[in-house]
Amino acid sequence: MFRCKSAAELLEEAEKQQIHLPFQEDVSLLATQVFINGREIPNRIAIQPMEGCDGTADGKPAELTLRRYDKFARSGAGLIWAEATAVWEEGRANPRQLWIREENLDAFRAMNDRIREISMKENGFVPLIFMQATHSGRYSKPEGVPAPLIAYNNPLFEKDSPIPAERIVTDDYLHRLVERMGEAAKLAEKAGFDGVDIKSCHRYLGSELLSAYTRPGNFGGSFENRTRFLRESIAGAKAAVSSNFIVTSRLNIYDGFPYPYGFGVNEKDGLIPDMTEPKKLIGILHKELGVDLLDITIGNPYVNPHVNRPADTQPYALPEEPLTGVARMLDCTRQIQAAYPDLTVIGSGLSYLRQFAPGVAAGAIREGYFQIAGFGRMAFAYPEFAKDILSGKGLDPKQCCITCGKCSQLMRFGSKAGCVVRDSVYTRLYQEATAK
Ligand SMILES: Cc1cc2nc3c(=O)[nH]c(=O)nc-3n(C[C@H](O)[C@H](O)[C@H](O)COP(=O)(O)O)c2cc1C
Ligand code: SF4
Repeated sequence: MFRCKSAAELLEEAEKQQIHLPFQEDVSLLATQVFINGREIPNRIAIQPMEGCDGTADGKPAELTLRRYDKFARSGAGLIWAEATAVWEEGRANPRQLWIREENLDAFRAMNDRIREISMKENGFVPLIFMQATHSGRYSKPEGVPAPLIAYNNPLFEKDSPIPAERIVTDDYLHRLVERMGEAAKLAEKAGFDGVDIKSCHRYLGSELLSAYTRPGNFGGSFENRTRFLRESIAGAKAAVSSNFIVTSRLNIYDGFPYPYGFGVNEKDGLIPDMTEPKKLIGILHKELGVDLLDITIGNPYVNPHVNRPADTQPYALPEEPLTGVARMLDCTRQIQAAYPDLTVIGSGLSYLRQFAPGVAAGAIREGYFQIAGFGRMAFAYPEFAKDILSGKGLDPKQCCITCGKCSQLMRFGSKAGCVVRDSVYTRLYQEATAK
C-alpha cells in the first residue's frame, strides 16, 4: 500500500528498494511550453489517452464522452491525447468505442471546438488535441463479444485454445490497414484534431506486430518486417495531412513478455528490457520519417497490468512493489530520451505517485527522462489536477487517484469507464456492474 505522507518518505522508500526516483520540489518547469512542428503545447502536462467506452453505437462522442472531455479541457493540461478511436468497425474494442469516419466528422469537430472553447475560457490557452487511431486486433469486440483479429498465435495468451488461423490477419489486410491509417489521419485533421497517433501500444494490433517474430510474410520475422506496419502507416499519414499536423505514435518499447512474444526484451534473458530494437525503430521514425514527438509506454493492461499501470491492487497477487513498476517505466523512457535528445518524449505511469507525481515529473524532466509528463488515471480522478500543479498549489491527496483499478475493471465488465472512487456517475455504474 502507498503509505508515504511526504516526499522525503517516498524518496526514503525508493532508496530502500534501491530505486532512483528523480524529484524536485519546484515544479515550475512543468509550466513551460514545448513546440512541435511549429505548434505550441502550452505546458508540459499531457492527459494520456483513456477510453471511456461511452460513444454512440455508430462511433460518435456521446453524453459521457463529452462530459469527460469537458473536464479534461478544464483541467489545465497543455496536451489532450484523446482515447483509442477505431479506424474500422471490426477493430472496435467495444460497441461504444469511438470510430473515425466521414459520417462522424461533425460530431468530433464539435467536441474539439468545445474543448478549445472551455480551455480558453478557464485556462486562457488552447491545448493541442490528438486522436489515437487504432485497430484493437486481439482485443476487438465490435459486438460486445470477443472477435479477435491477431498478428500471430501467442501461446502465452491463448494457452491451449489457440485462436483459429482464419482470425490471423493476412498481409493484404495489413496493407489495406496501412492505407486506412493514412485516411484516418486525414479524417482526424478534418475533424479538428491537431495530430494523430498511429497506436502501437498495449498489444492492440499495431503493437502486436512489433513482436511478430513467428509470423511469415511481409509483416513478420525480421526487424524490417515487424516494424513495417508502423513505419508505412506513419509515412502514409504524413503524406495525407498538411505539414503542421502532427503525426506521432503511442509506442510500447517493452512488452514484458519473453522472446519470441515480446518487443523490447532481451532475446536470451526472459523479461529483462532491451532497448536495442526500440531505439533502432525510434531512430528511423525520428530521423528518417520526421516524427518529433513520441508517447512512450510499456506492458499490457490485460496480462501484466503491474507493468503497464503500477498500482496497489492488481487482478493477481502483486509480483513486485509498485514503485519497481514506476521505476521500470521511467528507466525505459529515459533510455529513449537519452538516445534522442531532440525528440520530445512523453512519459507514462505516474499516477501511482499520488500528490508527489508532479515533483517526480519535474525531476524527471530536469534529469532528462522525458520532456512532457503524461497522466492517465490521475486525470480521471482529479478534474483540475493540472491547474493545481501549475498554480503551485500542489495536488490535494484527497482528490488523487488511489490506483484501486476499478476504472479498468469497469472496462472489463463491458461498462463505461471513469473514476469509481471520485465520480459518483461511475460509483453507480460500478455498483450496477458488480450487483449483476
Ligand atoms: C480505463 C482506462 C482506459 C485506458 N484507455 C487507453 C487508451 O485508449 N489508449 C491508451 O493508449 N492507453 C489507455 N489507457 C492507459 C493509460 O493511458 C495510461 O498509460 C495508464 O493508465 C498508466 O498511466 P497512469 O499511471 O497515469 O494512469 C487506459 C487506462 C485506463 C485506466
Ligand atoms: S477508479 Fe481507482 S484507479 Fe481508476 S482513476 Fe479512480 S481511483 Fe484511480
